[in-house]
Amino acid sequence: MAKYLLHCFILLCMSASAQSPWYHHTTIYQIYPRSFYDSNGDGIGDIQGIIQKLDHVKDMGYQTIWCSPFFKSPQKDFGYDISDYQAIAPEYGTMQDAEQLIAEVHKRGMHIVFDMVMNHTSMEHPWFKADVERGKADSTKDFYIWRDKPTNWKSMTGGSGWQYNEQRKQYFYASFLPFQPDLNYRNPIVKETMLNNVRFWLKKGVDGFRLDIFNVIYKDGEFRNNPFMMKAVPSETDPSGFFQKAKYTINQQESFAFAKELRAVCNEFGDKMLLGEVSGDKATIKKFMGDDKNDGLGLVFNFEMLRYKMKASYFHELIEGIEQNFTEPFMPVYVFSNHDRRRSIRRINNDMQKARLLHLMQLTVRGVPCMYYGEEIGMTDGHMPYKTALDPIPHKYNLPRFLVDMNGETLNRDELRTPMQWNDTTNAGFSTNNITWLPVNPDYKTVNVAAENADANSLMNSIKALLHLRKQHAVFANGDLKLIDKKLLPKNVLGYTRSYNGKEVLVLINYSNGNKQVKLSKTYSNILYQIDNSSNKKGDSVVLSPLGGIVLM
Ligand code: GLC
Repeated sequence: MAKYLLHCFILLCMSASAQSPWYHHTTIYQIYPRSFYDSNGDGIGDIQGIIQKLDHVKDMGYQTIWCSPFFKSPQKDFGYDISDYQAIAPEYGTMQDAEQLIAEVHKRGMHIVFDMVMNHTSMEHPWFKADVERGKADSTKDFYIWRDKPTNWKSMTGGSGWQYNEQRKQYFYASFLPFQPDLNYRNPIVKETMLNNVRFWLKKGVDGFRLDIFNVIYKDGEFRNNPFMMKAVPSETDPSGFFQKAKYTINQQESFAFAKELRAVCNEFGDKMLLGEVSGDKATIKKFMGDDKNDGLGLVFNFEMLRYKMKASYFHELIEGIEQNFTEPFMPVYVFSNHDRRRSIRRINNDMQKARLLHLMQLTVRGVPCMYYGEEIGMTDGHMPYKTALDPIPHKYNLPRFLVDMNGETLNRDELRTPMQWNDTTNAGFSTNNITWLPVNPDYKTVNVAAENADANSLMNSIKALLHLRKQHAVFANGDLKLIDKKLLPKNVLGYTRSYNGKEVLVLINYSNGNKQVKLSKTYSNILYQIDNSSNKKGDSVVLSPLGGIVLM
């Protein structure tokens, strides 16, 4: 009998996965290798450091790890400027370490995806040097995009994207920073070479890739100038800015098609995750996922929520918009922090209680949650001067800091990349070196893994409980979502149900500072989760405490 039940269970799991891929039902933890754990005491995090801390990720309940790049690179953009796609930067370890990392992650029943920077390389890549050496005589061999005369195209970071090369006496195009020349995907050899780099890692067993600025891979083949637009600052939902519409530089048809080609290559190796870093309105970013068949990337970040507001109405509209656009076979990705943008807790004045509400929502909605290292303990941004930044971005602008602060952002990404806070010992337990590549945030004495582990009510333990709940009840990863009509809820309370295979879960979150009573339309027999045990289930109604939340089944 037990055997028969097990067999039915396996079949059930198989039929669910036949409908949608594993990566639509996973949870992601982003590791920035330089800042995670330093195993050899040189002040820089490394691959062995990640391996040594895998049990933390596993215990938390995350199912997939995304590692920012650790490939060979001059590190001018800390690994997002690659000079060899098939080699590991020595400060992070060796090829053997990378292989061991994949094996150790798999041993723990998790997945691991690497970061593929396909759009550009470092200027130190031999391909770039060869283009310069060869000169413009035989442009069919070019790996990069060269022109005698620049177009008006602006880079994503502002200013002309064209950079003059003295030796070749031509301009090359760089979508991001001047030292990151864009590859020329219109040259079939470039495309095949890059796809082979993808295959190289898939053969090693990696479970997929996060794809860096994938929406600029193709630029207009006719080099038409971008039209003027009265818009200074690009946003998550509209990448145009710097007073031009990015009509010919971003989100080109060929890039959507390339997403499908990349998917086909991955399919040679099985079910692989592709997670695109793209920006644009919902209809546009959805195109990267593929058409109705979802045969493109399959996942893209829903970046619109990076600048979230801690209000029920904000989340109601967010979820509503996402549900209208990303229903099956699509799956959204809920993300509030990464290595480029302010940490999520900073936007709520480092309020741990509010952070618990944020992640209660993130981990119970229909979508793939993606969290940045340290987000689980409420790590916040450091405050570091722009002048001495290691990050190249602040050096590109001459902007007074207060203008950026006023906008709730920072140009200095060092601030959000400080070392992981493991405990309250020297350097937060990150490194034994006197000097760490970036200073540890001074709040590490209280905000750290060890301290939060010991506190049953910590942010970390509440995130852990939710991650485990997701694993325990398939309704969270697989179920439908229905928002509860705002009119049926008290002001500043968000509510939704999730349902799957006849099971229903109700999530209620109170964003206000007062108690809120919610009348239930049906009886739920179990409290699956509640914040601080302070929300009580009383017969046919629930009293939510200030900044409280509850999950009923
Ligand atoms: C992406 C990365 C960022 C990097 C840039 C250029 O936005 O997330 O860190 O600087 O691309 O590769």
